[in-house]
Amino acid sequence: MPSEVFQYLINSFNGGLYVDCTFGGGGHTKYLLNKLKSIRIVAFDWDESSSTVFLKDRDKFKDSVIFVRDNFKNIMKNLLAVNVNKVDGILVDLGASSEQFNDLERGFSFNSDVLDMRMDKRSNLTAKEVINSYSREDLANIFYNYGEEYESRRIAAAIFSYRNKGKVINSASELQSIVCSVKKYRKKIKINPATKVFQALRIFVNNELENLKILLSEAPKLLSSRGRIVVISFHSLEDRIVKQNFKHNFNCGVYKIITKKVIVASHKEIKMNFRSRSAKMRVAEKIGA
Ligand SMILES: C[S@@+](CC[C@H](N)C(=O)[O-])C[C@H]1O[C@@H](n2cnc3c(N)ncnc32)[C@H](O)[C@@H]1O
Repeated sequence: MPSEVFQYLINSFNGGLYVDCTFGGGGHTKYLLNKLKSIRIVAFDWDESSSTVFLKDRDKFKDSVIFVRDNFKNIMKNLLAVNVNKVDGILVDLGASSEQFNDLERGFSFNSDVLDMRMDKRSNLTAKEVINSYSREDLANIFYNYGEEYESRRIAAAIFSYRNKGKVINSASELQSIVCSVKKYRKKIKINPATKVFQALRIFVNNELENLKILLSEAPKLLSSRGRIVVISFHSLEDRIVKQNFKHNFNCGVYKIITKKVIVASHKEIKMNFRSRSAKMRVAEKIGA
């Protein structure tokens, strides 16, 4: 949603310093810089492939972008390290990138031969470890809490009985087959029956909801007066956290809520990028100093 991001994030056309918390393939950063040459951006991403994208385009970015390969929950520490204590806007485009989903070596997609799902390869916990070593109850709770999967217990039981035969689940495609073998067939549902389990595992492995909560709690301290925070989320668990945080800050007189209703992707964008069909964008503005 680059044009909507530009429209809502940039509150002054006299330059300014912005944070792109989720650089990914650099799409939003590049769009913003093309639209407004005078801004500067501190871009975060914890994935090595994003630092590669940044390094490839470093000459184009010149002095406009500083790239930080770290978890965005450490935003405060990293900004202070480059002598920044206030910014004019914060952009967060959550979830995994298309590049991460499409790279079969990363294990995010259903037909991958590996079971990894780490966005940051420096972290130790992989989806394979979770699926092969966590208790039946823990697995069911992960599928239910992070995927809202109502058949979580049946699925966890099927994984457990597979493991009890002495087998190891090595790949995403193997996991998908096990999940599909127990999910009740519903004619109306067009998505892959393993979607919720995969979402839950990815969120758990990357600690996505906790990272988001920490970032949202740091944002008001970093935003300048009239600075904006724009968050794009892809499922209801994330969107609920954003909505509640904005409401809390509104009640405390810290934020004005700019988007009374969520902004969704245009038909044109959904045609070009099918993933954007579930994107929800919320925007808030800092009041006072
Ligand atoms: C949906 S993509 C962003 C795409 C980007 N806006 C673009 O235009 O190319 C999300 C990115 O955020 C990164 N990410 C997710 N959680 C993160 C976190 N806690 N800290 C740093 N980066 C994170 C992922 O590695 C991924 O590259």
